[in-house]
Amino acid sequence: MQFADVLRTKMINADHPAAGGNLRRVLGPVDLTLLGIGAIIGAGIFVLTGVAAATQAGPAIILSYFVAGIACAFSALAYAELAAAVGGCGSAYGYSYAGLGEIVAWIIGWDLILEYGVATSAVAIGWSSYVNNAFTAVGFALPDILIKSPSEGGWLNLPAALIVLVLAGLLSLGVRESARFNAIMVAVKLIAISIFIGVALFHIQPSNWQPFMPFGWNGVMGGAAVIFFAYIGFDAVSTAAEEARNPQRDLPIGILVSLAVCTLIYIIVAGLLTAVVAYPTLNVGSPVADVMLRLGYPWAAGFVAAGAIAGLTTVMLVLYYGLTRVFLAMSRDGLLPPLFARVNPRTHTPIRVIIVSGVLMAAIAGFTPIGEVAELVNIGTLAAFFLVCIGVVSLRYTHPDLPRPFKTPFAPAVPLLGAAACLYLMLNLPLVTWLRFGIWLALGLVIYFMYSHQHSVLMRDEA
Ligand code: ALA
Repeated sequence: MQFADVLRTKMINADHPAAGGNLRRVLGPVDLTLLGIGAIIGAGIFVLTGVAAATQAGPAIILSYFVAGIACAFSALAYAELAAAVGGCGSAYGYSYAGLGEIVAWIIGWDLILEYGVATSAVAIGWSSYVNNAFTAVGFALPDILIKSPSEGGWLNLPAALIVLVLAGLLSLGVRESARFNAIMVAVKLIAISIFIGVALFHIQPSNWQPFMPFGWNGVMGGAAVIFFAYIGFDAVSTAAEEARNPQRDLPIGILVSLAVCTLIYIIVAGLLTAVVAYPTLNVGSPVADVMLRLGYPWAAGFVAAGAIAGLTTVMLVLYYGLTRVFLAMSRDGLLPPLFARVNPRTHTPIRVIIVSGVLMAAIAGFTPIGEVAELVNIGTLAAFFLVCIGVVSLRYTHPDLPRPFKTPFAPAVPLLGAAACLYLMLNLPLVTWLRFGIWLALGLVIYFMYSHQHSVLMRDEA
């Protein structure tokens, strides 16, 4: 093996023959935007905001949302440029394969599998507790052994495992069917959030914003690193490149519009939550619904809980979808076994990848306390965003004439600032998260050198 091998790059827009147009191009700009909103609004706003406001940032959580939103906006511009210019359902994995070399692509693909896989399993556990609360409210509480993993004294978290398997079925049926289901669920969560905003607007007490920044700037930044989770998901839109009708125009629209809408919603909701009740009281599992109850609106709390369940469902659906498309792209390139590269000719979906990853994630959600390592998702995503920003700068120099239907404004300043912002947020994450991330990457490198490097399609092309 020569060292230069690991830095070999793939030709841009060189569709591998195995792609063969097997995925179906059915998604338009509205579908893509709704997929983005589907993936973004979920546990972050419905769960994490309360904890982050109470323990990290206070009412200044609104600034945390602003800071994390800026890092995401810069990265989203970079994603939009590469999604339109390079394309491919492998998203950041594919962009780095074209711009930065195979080993970087492998690391980022491996990292995206972690991001989407852990996020889906962790959100399934949050979904399970929301659903169990709803069952309890109507007198059908499930026994503890069926909602707790063995390490928590139960048998398995049955609802968490089941929801992943149900989504596997839906994703297997077809991307159009999945997008339709997503659109309905997105409507439910947006209605729930509108109800919250409508009610909370009449209960603002300016004194709740005193003091505004009880934990100082450190608190704001620590809060930003945590609630960054709330923004994760717009990147999954870029994995739909081979299923979009007009990817070069519509992927940038889907990515940027979904992020803009969600940022606005987050800032309004975070501002209202801390303005209607005292921030220390927000340290609960379902702060948005809880605030509605405390203000004396049980019906609104019911709607918010339904919205949260719908929200968590779409987050899992779209991130799981992203996982399967990255997996598919890596198999087509030979870096993962080719057995996963098949797209079912009838449903036009990669059923094998969907089933294998679904069973694995269902097992993780059912039998492990994966929620405890959810912050791995943040570090994994930030690393992907970082490399996408660097990828934009690198491709501007190595491929200056590449047609770019969408161009990041003020490059290289904006992508470089994006990369710096992502790195800064990564540095605000705990050491233990870095260690776990390092172990995952080391495992990935072992697989790369033991399998992927020799089986890469580029290796065969060279031979
Ligand atoms: N942004 C997604 C959520 O908040 C991952 O659940």
